[in-house]
Amino acid sequence: MIEDKNVGIIGTGLIGKKTVQKIAGLCNKVLCYDAYPAADWIKTIPNAEYVSLDELFAESHVISIHVPLLPETHHLINKVIFHLSTNITNPPKATVYGNFDVNMN
Ligand SMILES: NC(=O)c1ccc[n+]([C@@H]2O[C@H](COP(=O)([O-])OP(=O)(O)OC[C@H]3O[C@@H](n4cnc5c(N)ncnc54)[C@H](O)[C@@H]3O)[C@@H](O)[C@H]2O)c1
Repeated sequence: MIEDKNVGIIGTGLIGKKTVQKIAGLCNKVLCYDAYPAADWIKTIPNAEYVSLDELFAESHVISIHVPLLPETHHLINKVIFHLSTNITNPPKATVYGNFDVNMN
């Protein structure tokens, strides 16, 4: 059941936009993040908005990633898992945070 869930989309280029258009009618809200937001396009999707990356991580139940591999996106998956783990589980041990911190550098 996804109709009451928020979907996070990281990267709203060609594929990200198509994903937003397909999922928007099925879920509660689509929370988007892109380094270069398509401000006019997002207005055409009633339940979609651009948010900060932190807000996307905090408010999304499902996250779909559509960014190219660049120095800026390197290890983004680790960052996603790190944030999700803080949302879903009890706070992990400090060493786990430390490991993710190392991977995110
Ligand atoms: N289009 C295809 O047919 C296809 C097929 C297979 C794989 N891919 C891969 O999927 C990925 C996405 O494809 P696409 O066609 O949507 O690419 P795209 O270039 O149209 O979109 C990429 C988006 O990522 C955004 N972006 C770049 N750096 C960012 C950052 N640091 N933070 C946030 N957003 C950032 C860009 O602003 C852009 O909107 C690419 O890696 C591409 O190689 C694409």
